[in-house]
Amino acid sequence: MASQTELQQLNDRLEAEAQQMAATDLASLMHAEGRDALVLKQDDLWVDITRQPIRTDSLDMLCALAEARNLAENITQLFDGTHINRTEDRPVVHMGLRHPDRHKSEGWKQLAEFAEQLRNAGQITDVVNIGIGGSDLGPAMLAQALGPACDGPRLHFVGNVDPAHIHDVLASCTPEQTLFIVTSKTFTTQETLANATLATSWLERHGMRSDEAMVAVTAAPDMANRWGIDKDRIFSFEDGVGGRYSVWSAVGLAVMIGCGSARFAEVLAGAYDMDCHFRTAPFDQNLPVIMGLLRIWHRQFMGRVSYGLMAYDQRLARFAAWAQQLEMESNGKSVDMNGQTLSHPAAPLIWGEPGTNAQHSFFQWLHQGAEIHPIDILVSRTPYLRGEDALSKDAHRQLVINAIAQAEALALGQKNPDNPHQHFAGNRPSILVSWDRSTPFAIGRLLALYEHITIVSGFIWGINSFDQFGVELGKKMARALDEGTGLSHFSKAAQSFMQTLD
Ligand code: F6P
Repeated sequence: MASQTELQQLNDRLEAEAQQMAATDLASLMHAEGRDALVLKQDDLWVDITRQPIRTDSLDMLCALAEARNLAENITQLFDGTHINRTEDRPVVHMGLRHPDRHKSEGWKQLAEFAEQLRNAGQITDVVNIGIGGSDLGPAMLAQALGPACDGPRLHFVGNVDPAHIHDVLASCTPEQTLFIVTSKTFTTQETLANATLATSWLERHGMRSDEAMVAVTAAPDMANRWGIDKDRIFSFEDGVGGRYSVWSAVGLAVMIGCGSARFAEVLAGAYDMDCHFRTAPFDQNLPVIMGLLRIWHRQFMGRVSYGLMAYDQRLARFAAWAQQLEMESNGKSVDMNGQTLSHPAAPLIWGEPGTNAQHSFFQWLHQGAEIHPIDILVSRTPYLRGEDALSKDAHRQLVINAIAQAEALALGQKNPDNPHQHFAGNRPSILVSWDRSTPFAIGRLLALYEHITIVSGFIWGINSFDQFGVELGKKMARALDEGTGLSHFSKAAQSFMQTLD
């Protein structure tokens, strides 16, 4: 680890470099000789950083920052089971779930056997996953992302405690043909238990026994059993698997039922491929390291608050929502691992919607707003469709053309000093992430890439990216309001409002 003085000197150089790059026209950088060397490739996964406000010197300094912050040692400890989640004294183990050895494990065999038996029996037409946060966002996003690869029962994801959520899902389900998966790492989350109770009531109203139509996925099997799930209908996973990093675990059971264990294994293989790249590629060719450093570049050195993720892929419509929890629950902190206040802000606001729809919504703000907001644009270069007819292929070509056109328009702009309303300042940066086809392997690889981007920036910032104490106060106050305890602590408005609730 570099000394404080060396780190400060490096920071000072990076700040000076950022000021210089902020004042440099992106167009001049993009047209420079050899700029296309900044399209990094890992097989068919391409990360095009040519539209970033950087030059070779900038990247060299950022890689020097990674070295100075001991990133290589952090990555080693991430994979070797060191308890790097120091505030909870836990290792970080979700990468092990996509190692090829996983398929030899008893846990995998139980999941695969259950999924294949259910798919082959054909009795279950609808699977309802009841979960929230990482017990919902990952599996819901992955199920949609896999598109036609999910050829089994219909998958539904219920998370909100708003009863309308489960009611609207169950309106299209038949009790005798519905399986509920109650997914909760802690098996204490109020929304999930409330929805599981509503599901039980729905089953019983239709003469069904919940112990036939319900299974649990959790890291707290005793809690699930005490709640009422039979031990042999509980699929457990390790405490060292963080909620927002858990889709690879039994939390992905609904998806495995939807796509089958073989295709789910392909998703894991893609993520494993990214793990191997992350562990072995030199920093200046390492996709997660470079993208994690660019998150830091924009957030800390360019002072940009938000970071948009625009997937030009309708099946990745929930990708930004998944990445929001991933980044903002991991790095949305203001102290480092040792509890020292950070000298700069950390996680950006992650947001985004699918393209091309986003172009017809908020791209006006991106193009002509006063502030610069970096984004990633993600797109597969060829469609993943059943029967890729000529018309569909052309529509996909239009999708890809729009992705490239927006990246170029944002960066190059179109100066129009005579008519300010038609003036495009440009210098809006983006990273163009593309791959061949959205196969299960490619999707798994993409998700692992974004997990590692968050982890890299957390390591370099010295943050614990694996705890989430910030979610507890709201829950505690909700419980107090529900139980009517300590109401004097609450505002007069809240106390008055509570009196209106029966
Ligand atoms: O409250 C936040 C959180 O703990 C997330 O970290 C987690 O993914 C979610 O709630 C659900 O938790 P559980 O899987 O334990 O129900």
